[in-house]
Amino acid sequence: MDPENVLLLLPEGLESWGVLAKRTGLGLTELREALLVLRGQGFPVVIKEEGAGLALGTPAPQILLPLLRGKYGRAYRYFGVVTSTQDLLRAWQDAPIGAVVLAESQTQGRGRRGRVWESPQGNLYFSGLLENTGDQLLSLRAGLALAEATQAGLLKWPNDLLAPDGRKLGGVLIETENERAFLGVGLNVHVAPIPNSAALAEFRQVHRAQLLADFLWFLEKWLEKDNAAILAAWSERNVTLGREIAVWTGKETIVGVAISLGSKGELLVRTEKGMRAVLAGDVSLLRMAYDVKVSAGATAVGGRQNDDRSHCVRARATSLNFSEVGLRFDNAGRSSCADLRKVPPQWGSRTSDRVRQLGHGRKGNPGSPCQKDFHPRGP
Ligand code: BTN
Repeated sequence: MDPENVLLLLPEGLESWGVLAKRTGLGLTELREALLVLRGQGFPVVIKEEGAGLALGTPAPQILLPLLRGKYGRAYRYFGVVTSTQDLLRAWQDAPIGAVVLAESQTQGRGRRGRVWESPQGNLYFSGLLENTGDQLLSLRAGLALAEATQAGLLKWPNDLLAPDGRKLGGVLIETENERAFLGVGLNVHVAPIPNSAALAEFRQVHRAQLLADFLWFLEKWLEKDNAAILAAWSERNVTLGREIAVWTGKETIVGVAISLGSKGELLVRTEKGMRAVLAGDVSLLRMAYDVKVSAGATAVGGRQNDDRSHCVRARATSLNFSEVGLRFDNAGRSSCADLRKVPPQWGSRTSDRVRQLGHGRKGNPGSPCQKDFHPRGP
């Protein structure tokens, strides 16, 4: 039996050697060899004395498919290492709409504007096939699905997913070719690959296959919604509007305050010279302010991001009794309490809840199970 077929018979978590040998019809030596080959191909196979299997949350087909709720992801190709899932999806000529290609790592992952997307093992890298309808809000729809599936992120225009302290958790790349659109998603789940990036597992427990299934389900839902609903939902969930920003359009940098979204999803920026509409670009948040509800003794976490460098700041509330404060960070990194009435409404209690959750799931918490669910190299 080919290692590829053995892969499809592996359970999530450990199973005894005896059961595995019976299921695959292989002898113990052959079985162990097949597992080592699979691990060498980049699949998260766990091999132990007592048995073997796939690391918890592995998005192998037999684990993902039972978790799917909608149409997307039912045509599915799962790889260890690829150049870019975008390329593999493009090459899949008869892929139906909703088909998904996922890889455990990529050697030539690409991000928006020709950037490299670092793709080590432990995260999610996948591409989904959509109809190219010319939908100008597609990128916002994808961002909303990402934020909803992760339950931990905030959106920076157009679809960057940020951690509460401004570090990047994930992003979406949309490429088109005739009537096909390739929606690529990179989400840092267990590994923050570059400075100023964060991993979702720092904030919550994550099961990668469940996360993928949730994303595909929410994407399907957001694709059905009308434009007004998308613009309203995005405006509620973002960290761009109301902020001082700099947008690099590829030709110029526009500096001003992000005011709202236009009907095509463009960012309307008030500059010194008047209003500008930005259709595509990279936003840097020049100042970030976090409003957090903190109870006495609780730790609040905030941060600032300036010119793409973010700094985490922790503040301890000692004498507050469920009062509301806004932690502001100026350009020199100084923090101060701010009057909440000056903080835009989108930083409401949902942010506060997320900040509170953060206190329980941070990296370094010795009992945090999310740190344990991926073992790329096994024991
Ligand atoms: C961004 O720049 O924020 C978007 C990053 C998108 C990366 C994903 S990973 C899966 C897919 N394959 C790629 O090569 N890129 C996208």
